[in-house]
Amino acid sequence: MNLILTKRVLAPEVTLFEIVAPRIQRRWKPGQFVIVRPLSTSERIPLTLVTSDAARESVTLVVQAIGRTTRELAALEAGESVADVVGPLGEAATTTTGEKVVCMGGGVGVAELLPVAKAFHDAGNHVTALCGARSDNYRILDAELHAAADVVEWATDDGSYGFHGNVVQLLQAVAGPGSFSVGHVIGPIPMMKAAAEATRSWGMKLYASLNPVMIDGTGMCGGCRITVGNEVKFACVDGPEFDAHLVDFEELARRTRAYRDMEQAALEHLCRLQQV
Ligand SMILES: Cc1cc2nc3c(=O)[nH]c(=O)nc-3n(C[C@H](O)[C@H](O)[C@H](O)COP(=O)(O)OP(=O)(O)OC[C@H]3O[C@@H](n4cnc5c(N)ncnc54)[C@H](O)[C@@H]3O)c2cc1C
Ligand code: FES
Repeated sequence: MNLILTKRVLAPEVTLFEIVAPRIQRRWKPGQFVIVRPLSTSERIPLTLVTSDAARESVTLVVQAIGRTTRELAALEAGESVADVVGPLGEAATTTTGEKVVCMGGGVGVAELLPVAKAFHDAGNHVTALCGARSDNYRILDAELHAAADVVEWATDDGSYGFHGNVVQLLQAVAGPGSFSVGHVIGPIPMMKAAAEATRSWGMKLYASLNPVMIDGTGMCGGCRITVGNEVKFACVDGPEFDAHLVDFEELARRTRAYRDMEQAALEHLCRLQQV
């Protein structure tokens, strides 16, 4: 059991949890994730490690409530506990030194981007963070991003804050070949695919932090199988970060959709339980 110290709603359906996890707090690196089981009856879900606090022996997770298990977590309160948190899992994100770096995040991916942007910044790179949200009230962690990057720009789908459009359109509006030597992208699959296409001829390296369906998170089940440059990889142990220009995003999207009927049935079951 891991005690929840703080719960903070960041945006509609997006909640930050600070959870006591001393071993993970001591060992984690930006880009890594944990597997969380909110209740003893819940499925296990992967969530990115966002920040940590040594004095409080805690780690911070940000969750978007989209299905049964994320809703079970979002319903917990400070003072309650999650059933278990396993990690840190996966490889740390790649960082460089002395480069012009662009970090792009969309939706809850902005929270997942924060530790990576901070790691690039701390390693002596000039970091531009391009962040996307549905509208102004969906923007998250703006102050934290400003502390972790040299430049922060927002794009909103409805134009209610910053650039009117999505993050990749913002990238194309503010940059071009030669603007950046390294990039990192985290967000919905279509956004990561579009970022890879947009930068393919720009002569820059682009890393994508992938989010396939994961089950055990230890390389045993094959659930997170992806193809990168014609090689089979398992995102939980080989990633979650890969060269975005080599990822087969079509396959990733197809495999992520494969469980949709079962996920919908699980969510409807939860909704019926909550009505009793
Ligand atoms: C390495 C990694 C890190 C992640 N970090 C975070 C994080 O920090 N915060 C966060 O909110 N989420 C994160 N996710 C996604 C999160 O794990 C899923 O949203 C969660 O597993 C969904 O579970 P559920 O039971 O609530 O919904 P489900 O019922 O499983 O799914 C609901 C809907 O979401 C889609 N979906 C399910 N899993 C994923 C996925 N992995 N990627 C994209 N769409 C999915 C389904 O197709 C379905 O349409 C991460 C995923 C990975 C692989
Ligand atoms: S989640 Fe099972 S192999 Fe990666």
